[in-house]
Amino acid sequence: MSIISKDIQKAVALLNAEELVAIPTETVYGLAGNIFSKKAINAIFETKKRPHFNPLIVHISSLEYLDTIVEYVPEKAKLLAESFWPGPITLVLKKKNTIPDIITAGKDTVAVRIPNHPVTLELLKQLEFPLAAPSANPFNRISPTTPQHVEDYFKYNIKMVLDGGACKNGIESTIIGFENDEPIIYRLGSTSIEAIEKIVGKIEIKNHKESAPVAPGMLARHYAPKTKTVLSDNLSETISKYSGKEIGVLSFQTEIKDRSITFQIVLSKKGNMSEAASKLYNALHTLDRQNLDVIIAERFPDYDLGKSINDRLNRATKK
Ligand code: TXA
Ligand code: MG
Repeated sequence: MSIISKDIQKAVALLNAEELVAIPTETVYGLAGNIFSKKAINAIFETKKRPHFNPLIVHISSLEYLDTIVEYVPEKAKLLAESFWPGPITLVLKKKNTIPDIITAGKDTVAVRIPNHPVTLELLKQLEFPLAAPSANPFNRISPTTPQHVEDYFKYNIKMVLDGGACKNGIESTIIGFENDEPIIYRLGSTSIEAIEKIVGKIEIKNHKESAPVAPGMLARHYAPKTKTVLSDNLSETISKYSGKEIGVLSFQTEIKDRSITFQIVLSKKGNMSEAASKLYNALHTLDRQNLDVIIAERFPDYDLGKSINDRLNRATKK
């Protein structure tokens, strides 16, 4: 029996009863629970097998609610919130004492965003608490961008996936922290650096610290298919290296004509980065189901969303 449903009232009832519901957002599906319920938050960590040192993002429905979550909003955070919310930017700000430590993994900051999805905005408006929601995938696996992806991962562990269709953006939110009130990118994501810099000027990226990552989810191996995956700067060359194997190819724009390829996905024939980003995870999920020996993914041009896509491909291909 499917746990996928469009019934918002059912989701409200489950969340009020401290259960988990997978919710749609514009980026990826989230595994959501009441931020004030110990039972729900523990269930999130348990269901995902997520280490407790990795804090959760708090989802709210309006800017007014921000002041109940955080102590203080730097000027540039305000500008970013006003420019991009609802939308795929997460701000890491000084938390209020009322935010439970388990949400923030003991940090004195909390990650917060207003997601841009009509179903989840309506859901949040009907609840009396914000929702903690990490991506609805087991730790280290590819994030889900359709209700079916979530059901495939968790059908025995959660009661409901709230169906909001396929996620429009397809890559997680861009995470921005503040040091001395200056914004810093902790995770590349669905909002491009170029768009952010238009609002706040030149911005530093700090997402590669392996030993003590500022956003602990930024560990090297992440977003990974089970199938061996390699990143390529020259598809034809890499394909010939794996001759005799069952090869899957994930390319940006161009179809490779080569009979040794078993399964191929072109992300955007038009060469449109947003289209490619929105299809990326679904393509990886699909390739991962084909029993291939290797998935060869083409490196993207290093600008705009290409930067975020390369970040995810890099993490998917780390051993
Ligand atoms: O698009 C998204 O952001 C999706 C949707 C569901 O909203 N959520 C998502 O959550 O990607 P998750 O848990 O998979 O990734 C959250 C990231 C983690 O890397 C975590 O380490 C970081 O946010 N994070 C959370 N709180 C933080 C904090 N206080 N300081 C630094 N990083 C934080
Ligand atoms: Mg995640």
